Amino acid sequence: MKKSDLFRELVENRRSNRHFSPDIEVPEESVLSALTLAHLSPNSSNMQLWGFYWIKSENLLEQMTPLCMGQSAARTAKHLVVFVTRQGLWKERAEWNYENIKKSIVGEPTKLNKRGLSYYKKLMPIIYRHDPFGFNNLFRKGIVFYKGFNKSFMRFESHADQRVMLHKSCALAAQTFMLAIASEGFDTCPMEGFDAKRVKKLLALPKDAEITMIVAVGKGTEKGIHGERTRVPLDQVIFTR
Ligand SMILES: Cc1cc2nc3c(=O)[nH]c(=O)nc-3n(C[C@H](O)[C@H](O)[C@H](O)COP(=O)(O)O)c2cc1C
Repeated sequence: MKKSDLFRELVENRRSNRHFSPDIEVPEESVLSALTLAHLSPNSSNMQLWGFYWIKSENLLEQMTPLCMGQSAARTAKHLVVFVTRQGLWKERAEWNYENIKKSIVGEPTKLNKRGLSYYKKLMPIIYRHDPFGFNNLFRKGIVFYKGFNKSFMRFESHADQRVMLHKSCALAAQTFMLAIASEGFDTCPMEGFDAKRVKKLLALPKDAEITMIVAVGKGTEKGIHGERTRVPLDQVIFTR
């Protein structure tokens, strides 16, 4: 089978399944393999400001059900994976990227090397630094106004902009994970119906962590498919210019 046909089949057959079989286990290797692939997802500046919390203990799974509003996907899941953003790791990850570039330099640094080093040393702090009083937002607003006055400049100012950026990358990881689980012959249901505050407390998530979504994993059943898959017509979402 052609790669494109395999991929099409995978995407077309993936459904959000909300009721998993109680009798069929999902091997830990399948989940680990899917998480390993999720880790390869594209992400902003390769900062990898995310964390994947894999819940496999029966006791924790049980405690998670009411926190996921009693949804049957959570209640019947064999595993849950909580995808979180980690803005608080920005310094560490910028340094990690910086050191990787430094290590890769042989002889005189090239223009690209220098640009990379400056990117992680100078630009990342401007983009990711956050303070509760909004001083950094004001600083970014000033830069955007000045630099963007008469030429193109990235409109990136507020903490909301930072959060959107982090959740974009994390959601891509969740999607890679769901497709990988589908390729293992199992099913998933992404969920945003949960009590984020209580989940954070139960899992002792770091203070800066924000949950992008929780993905339930199991062997889907017919009961778990709530009707035909529907999408609005393509001409309402694909626009050419
Ligand atoms: C970010 C996100 C959050 C979702 N939250 C829930 C949820 O809390 N409960 C649920 O049953 N389905 C949830 N879904 C699944 C969607 O309802 C589902 O993807 C959509 O109806 C399309 O169906 P399909 O995935 O089978 O193609 C969520 C999907 C996404 C992407």
